[in-house]
Amino acid sequence: MANNPAHAILGTGSYAPERVVTNNDLSKQVDTSDEWIFTRTGIRERRIAGPAETTSFMAAEASRRALADAGVTPAQIDLVIVATMTPDMPMPATACLVQHLLGVPATAPCFDLNAACSGFLYALDTAWAMLASGRYKHALVIGAEKLSSVLDWTDRTTCVLFGDGAGAVVLGPARGTAGILGSKLYAEGAHADMLCIAGGGSRHPAVTATTAEADAPKRAITMRGREIFKLAVRQMEDAAREILDLHGLPAGAVDCVVPHQANLRIIDAIAQYLELPTDRFFVNLERYGNTSAASIPLALDEARRAGRIQPGHTTLLVAFGAGLTYGSALVRW
Ligand code: ACO
Repeated sequence: MANNPAHAILGTGSYAPERVVTNNDLSKQVDTSDEWIFTRTGIRERRIAGPAETTSFMAAEASRRALADAGVTPAQIDLVIVATMTPDMPMPATACLVQHLLGVPATAPCFDLNAACSGFLYALDTAWAMLASGRYKHALVIGAEKLSSVLDWTDRTTCVLFGDGAGAVVLGPARGTAGILGSKLYAEGAHADMLCIAGGGSRHPAVTATTAEADAPKRAITMRGREIFKLAVRQMEDAAREILDLHGLPAGAVDCVVPHQANLRIIDAIAQYLELPTDRFFVNLERYGNTSAASIPLALDEARRAGRIQPGHTTLLVAFGAGLTYGSALVRW
């Protein structure tokens, strides 16, 4: 880590829909309880987007805040990546809709990236590499999800876990010692069927209006929760250890860990394996549930605003998701 990093996160922003849905609200809809959801996951409530709060809308709002925080204008952005598994439409890319909403110039490539809950780390790594090529200067890296649109609201094993929201960062030239120190991505496609939305792709194409209701379950998230839980702990621990080793850092040198916000018990297990106190982890899942690709940038923005990340701090970001994908990144502020 002798050299100063070339690129840094210059600003962060986030957007959460207005509507709050509590565990008690859900218990009127499916056979569940606040007690079950909270003790198994740490979640108390989640935000659910209204019809006007599309993925692109939430992504643009989070981006506006990140741009203001960075002191960068849309005209200066020359790359937009939206990590999402709930794009507004299968095509065009939500990133193009965000570009239009923000007024980012036509010279900026805009594309979506799907790595489920690891999506933000995949997008960050991609943007970082593209900036390192020297062909782009400022990137908007966004994680945005309207997961309420892909949930089976009669399935208590999944609908209680997820929520909607967006987070964004502006990446650009580093000043001083702050910057992205490293990033490491992984995928284990052998476990692809463990967590998926089976319908809506080319294998089970989107259905017509007349068959929509019968096929609805195929268009919703299905998951083998227990198996995912075990793999998630192993994968996040591996991703965290490997990036720390690569940079010669002991876990104790990390000031704040911002993990994917899926389940408090998963986060507690990782803290235990890394031998870090749990208060070193920034957690906001009790208010948002699992917002997939939005979870890390949303938490990162809140952690900064709460003063949990200060200039000079080193932050570890670590995620897992469908694919199964996982990854980690080290950021100095
Ligand atoms: N309310 C009440 N009871 C429930 C509910 C609910 N919402 N959901 C399940 N149950 C019941 C089950 O039916 C089961 O009952 P049974 O024993 O009579 O069969 C019992 O509770 C225990 O179910 P388990 O699935 O074994 O519960 P577990 O302790 O494993 O917790 C959970 C389930 C919370 C899903 C956990 O396994 C988990 O968090 N796994 C990781 C999932 C995850 O994070 N997925 C997101 C991945 S990220 C991405 O890319 C989208």
